[in-house]
Amino acid sequence: MSLTIDQKARATMHGNDQGTYTLPTNGLYPYQWNWDSAFAALGFATFDVNRAWVELETLFSGQWDNGMVPHIIFHRESAGYFPGPREWGTKTVPPTSGISQPPVAATFTRAIYASDPASGRSRVEKLFPRLLRWHRWFWRHRNEDGLIVVNHPWESGRDNAPEWDEAMANVDTSGVGTYSRNDTSHVDPHMRPSKEDYDRFMAIVAAGRACGWDEEELTRNGPFRVADPGMSFILLRANRDLMALAEELGEDSGEIEGWIRIQEAALPRLWNPQLNGYDALNIRTGNFAGSMSSASFLNWYGGIENPQAMAEFRRITAAVPFAFPSHDPASPRFEAFRYWRGPTWGMINTLIGMGLEEMGHHGEAEALRTSTASLIEKSGFAEYFNPMDGQPAGGMDFTWTAAIWLAWASPNRHRKAG
Ligand code: GLC
Repeated sequence: MSLTIDQKARATMHGNDQGTYTLPTNGLYPYQWNWDSAFAALGFATFDVNRAWVELETLFSGQWDNGMVPHIIFHRESAGYFPGPREWGTKTVPPTSGISQPPVAATFTRAIYASDPASGRSRVEKLFPRLLRWHRWFWRHRNEDGLIVVNHPWESGRDNAPEWDEAMANVDTSGVGTYSRNDTSHVDPHMRPSKEDYDRFMAIVAAGRACGWDEEELTRNGPFRVADPGMSFILLRANRDLMALAEELGEDSGEIEGWIRIQEAALPRLWNPQLNGYDALNIRTGNFAGSMSSASFLNWYGGIENPQAMAEFRRITAAVPFAFPSHDPASPRFEAFRYWRGPTWGMINTLIGMGLEEMGHHGEAEALRTSTASLIEKSGFAEYFNPMDGQPAGGMDFTWTAAIWLAWASPNRHRKAG
């Protein structure tokens, strides 16, 4: 008997399941990653809601005293991964990286809670204060007048995207020395960030380590500080969901509402008229990146309507057979196979699709969902896909691709798993 895609998705998640957290995929990513885990929780909630809560609880077990939830938690030593605990040098227990990742957790917590409020109530009551502390950390340390910044491209979750090129070019790599990375032994180097990019990634890590990950110091003098439409829209959305959770729990929501108002007022500053799109803005130089990416279209997910963005969204969707590419195919920097410089990512499609649906763009949302489903039917649970021919790329058997199949792309997504 051949397995259905739903069954294969669950098997993929089980295959990466470590009991209390889930690997993005075995081999390439041997630890717990922040937003990967939140997506995993969303997937688990379609067939095992208790396991979904455990995933989120384990993620928050790595929360720092200052409220940050790190982008990687090194629960168990794994020799094959670079940069590991030693390079990050955070001195935390468990060891972690020194930066965060896009906060989708509050949004998915709310969705998982809504799917089964009776069993979720006590779990949400415990998670809420932790989510609030994390969002406060963002507000204190990643907020530039209401725009949300990243201190490392990895913090955005879109590692080598063209929106970081300008700011990365200013990162001094003279002190980096030699090192050997491991990612290119797992997948084709053509699909991974280049050596120059990697040197700069490591230089920013070294700067954080050198000051003991002192946020005040990094805010003032860190080598990289760029306002990101992705982070800004995702936190705005997460704040809306956190506020709804606060109201549900009878907690005071005034502080969160204040953040939302400030973010809403600030976001037009990320609109680059030359690009006709939301763009990354380098805080150190005041320059726009000039990059239209998939994150430029998270405005609906953030609850913000924009007819010009819709026109661009339609143009790009029509330009590729398998939307939505991570970079504008009309740009000379577009590369169909290189990671965040062109490929289509199912989990970003999910966020864009959720936003479109909620803001009444049902046709666009449904087209994006069915095109994502067709990619997975054709090419499996790949890390990402070539938007031109739908070929799978990066690692295979990826947790978040399986999870979003179950929670969003599958035709059976509204049915409870038997
Ligand atoms: C890469 C991706 C990042 C993801 C991680 C684990 O670094 O860019 O978004 O969280 O892999 O899948």
